[in-house]
Amino acid sequence: MRRSLERVGLLALRRVDAETAHGLALRALGAGLAPRPGPVTSPRLRTRLAGLDLPNPVGLAAGFDKDAAAVAPLMRAGFGFLEVGAATPLPQPGNPRPRAFRLRRHRAVINRYGFNGAGAAALAGRLCERPEGIPVGVNLGANRDSADRTADYAEVMRRVAGCADFAVVNVSSPNTAGLRGLQAGDALGSVLAGVVAARGERRVPVLVKISPDLTPAEIEAVAEAALAGGADGIVATNTTTARDGVSGPHAAEAGGLSGPPLFERSTRVLARLSVLTGGRLPLVGVGGVSSAADAYAKIRAGASAVQLYTGLVYGGLSLVGEIARGLDARLARDGFSTVAEAVGTDRGRWL
Ligand code: FNR
Repeated sequence: MRRSLERVGLLALRRVDAETAHGLALRALGAGLAPRPGPVTSPRLRTRLAGLDLPNPVGLAAGFDKDAAAVAPLMRAGFGFLEVGAATPLPQPGNPRPRAFRLRRHRAVINRYGFNGAGAAALAGRLCERPEGIPVGVNLGANRDSADRTADYAEVMRRVAGCADFAVVNVSSPNTAGLRGLQAGDALGSVLAGVVAARGERRVPVLVKISPDLTPAEIEAVAEAALAGGADGIVATNTTTARDGVSGPHAAEAGGLSGPPLFERSTRVLARLSVLTGGRLPLVGVGGVSSAADAYAKIRAGASAVQLYTGLVYGGLSLVGEIARGLDARLARDGFSTVAEAVGTDRGRWL
């Protein structure tokens, strides 16, 4: 019943533009119109990520709930963990609309939101009021017109440090001019130093989110800076500015491309990081996950956990439980008794 209701909802949302559909979906969630099975779990799916206990390794990627407006219902949608944000120190409107586009034939999205949001204080307030449950982390961003973006990341960290379970330094959004330059070794080192100092006594894990558009040498520099700077993990990857293999309406829109056309590119970066970090840092695989097979491939390429966003635009939230259950079945089929045992077992395929 819920599944068919969800299908009707998804069909209705197809009739409005991508941003309006997103807003309606968040409101429907807030109104309780969403699957709320609670976290899917099993002894095989239960796993640890950067010191966090996850009931399953399937997480919500950043950008879906930028202001933590629907965090309580999302915590019950089947995910093993959530990432909310990006949060910036000050509220900001982001880029002019339209700024999100569905590429239906590819089940993909291009967005150039540009960190629209209510700001870190508003997000922190909601985050601190959430019920007990799965780990919830915050994606840290910088204001477009900030005089000191490095300081912005630390400022957001300070604001959310009391309530977040982890933080992700987002230096890989393509939608704020110059932001991705912060991935260069020295710049990333400074950002990390500020964030690590700002996280306070709770010492929440800090991860770095990487772009899929870096050269092998640049990927190596990020891995080194993450290790040297005391990061607790890497999220691979953000959206791409490449347009490999996409065509048709909206394919030429500026912004970051996500969904299946990003899968291979992001998985290659993930596998490379797996080799470079050699198990010293856990990796989160994100980019084009829309099935259990995709999630399993990310884990076998080197991810300790996965995240998704665009898959939900086309498949709805019931996809989350489907992926977690399908992952469990695949692990069992191949003789793995935990997620951790499968991590990186097929990374050679992507190198
Ligand atoms: C994103 N993504 C994103 N990432 C991030 O670090 N901070 C953000 O604020 C956002 N915002 C955002 C908005 C929209 C509309 C989309 C589609 C994506 C990127 C997202 O977290 C993820 O890394 C990529 O979308 C790849 O995963 P999927 O969508 O292919 O599963």
